[in-house]
Amino acid sequence: MATGLLRRRASAVAPPVWRLLQPRLHATEAKTESKDATMKTFSIYRWNPANPSKPELQNYEINLKECGPMVLDALIKIKNEIDPTLTFRRSCREGICGSCAMNIDGCNGLACLTKIPSGAPTMITPLPHMFVIKDLVVDMTNFYNQYKSIEPWLKRKTPPPVPGKEYPQSKEDRKKLDGMYECILCACCSTSCPSYWWNPEAYLGPAALLHAHRWIADSRDEYTKERLDAINDEFKLYRCHTIMNCTRACPKGLNPAKQIQTIKSLQLRG
Ligand code: SF4
Ligand code: SF4
Ligand code: FES
Repeated sequence: MATGLLRRRASAVAPPVWRLLQPRLHATEAKTESKDATMKTFSIYRWNPANPSKPELQNYEINLKECGPMVLDALIKIKNEIDPTLTFRRSCREGICGSCAMNIDGCNGLACLTKIPSGAPTMITPLPHMFVIKDLVVDMTNFYNQYKSIEPWLKRKTPPPVPGKEYPQSKEDRKKLDGMYECILCACCSTSCPSYWWNPEAYLGPAALLHAHRWIADSRDEYTKERLDAINDEFKLYRCHTIMNCTRACPKGLNPAKQIQTIKSLQLRG
C-alpha cells in the first residue's frame, strides 16, 4: 500500500526522463516476479526416532528451473543439496518398484510419477495410518504379511502336462489376469481405504485382495475353492464397503474395488 502511494506521487511530479525510465523499471519487476515463480516451497513431514519429539512439517525452497519435473526429483534435490537427513524410499524412478509411495497434497501417489504442482506450497507426508519409521518411510511389515497370507504363488494338485515344463495357458485365460498382474504393491490403495485405517490387521485391504483374485482367476491354479474359502471372512473380505478410495488412489490405473466385488460375487455363487 505504501509503495503504491509513493509511486503515484512520483508519477505526478515526474520529469520526462522519469517517464522514459518507467518501462525499464516494469521490466525489472517482471523479471523478479518470474524468478519468484520458479521458486517452490515443499512442506515435508519430519520425524526422527533417534530424537523423538513431536513430528513437524519442515519447509524447503527450491528453484524449479534447476530441478526435474517430478516430486521425486524435488525430494532428491533437497536431499542432495539442502538436507541429507531427509529420508524417503525410492529406487526405479519410473513407477515400477512402488517404493516412493507417499501422500502428496492430500492424495496418495508415487513421487516419481507425480508432477510438481505449480503455485502454492506442496505438502508431503507419509502414507496415512501407517507406523512411521523415519520421515516419509513407513513400516510395511503388516502390509507384506497380508500379501503373504493370500499365498501369492501358483498352487497345483496335479503335475504339469509335460514333466519339467511350464503349465500352458490360453491367450483368453491369460487375458483374465489383466488389471491385476500389473500391481506393484505400492500400498497407495490400502492406505487410502477408511476400512483399512480402522481394521489394519483384520481387514486384508484392497492390495492383498486384488492379489487374492489374481490367483483365484488364474486358470493354471488348482486351489481356487480353498483360496475363496480362506478369505470368506467377515473381516478379511467383508470390511470393504465399496467406498472406492482405493481405485481413485491407484497410480497404475488398476481397480481393486472391482476385483473385491468379483470375489464377493464368486463367494455368493459358492
Ligand atoms: S472399495 Fe473397499 S477396499 Fe476400496 S477403499 Fe472402499 S472399502 Fe476400501
Ligand atoms: S492396486 Fe494399485 S495402488 Fe494398490 S498396491 Fe497395487 S499398484 Fe499400488
Ligand atoms: S521410485 Fe520406483 S515407483 Fe517411484
